[in-house]
Amino acid sequence: MSSPTIQTESEALSDYAAVGGAPAITAVVNRFYELVLGDDRLRGYFDGVELVRLKRHQVALVSQVMGGPVAYDGRDLRTAHAGKGISADDFGAVAGHLIAALTEAGVPSEIIDRTVAAVAATQPDIVEVPATQA
Ligand code: HEM
Repeated sequence: MSSPTIQTESEALSDYAAVGGAPAITAVVNRFYELVLGDDRLRGYFDGVELVRLKRHQVALVSQVMGGPVAYDGRDLRTAHAGKGISADDFGAVAGHLIAALTEAGVPSEIIDRTVAAVAATQPDIVEVPATQA
């Protein structure tokens, strides 16, 4: 019997499978929104938003980005965030909470890096207000 830790290249796990699939990603997304909604800078954006649907879409998006067998079926991100006046600072704060949730869950850093790079690529679709001057 072969060791379960040995993989050939063709059988390489997706990041989605490596972190534990749907239950693990659901837990990360729940923690992520706990952190976002606990952040005074961000909470106001989510007033009146239906969180069950939002979390379902976010789980699907993160799963897809991590190579899971899940297709994101929410609105495109530009439409979903249009008119909210989200700033680059807000975006950085949200991305930071995602990194924190992934880190707390024990996700390996190289998988966090890949996931965050994919999420960071969405910034032009989400941010409408430039970063404040340092
Ligand atoms: C970091 C990258 C981000 C990603 C990948 C992301 C992803 C998503 C997704 C998948 C949805 C669901 C869309 C749908 O239901 O069809 C959503 C909705 C939403 N996002 Fe983001 N988001 C990001 C950043 C942000 C930021 C920075 C804010 C505000 C500070 C924000 C505020 C919202 C709000 C308020 C909604 C609900 C929109 C509504 O239902 O009217 N998001 N986001």
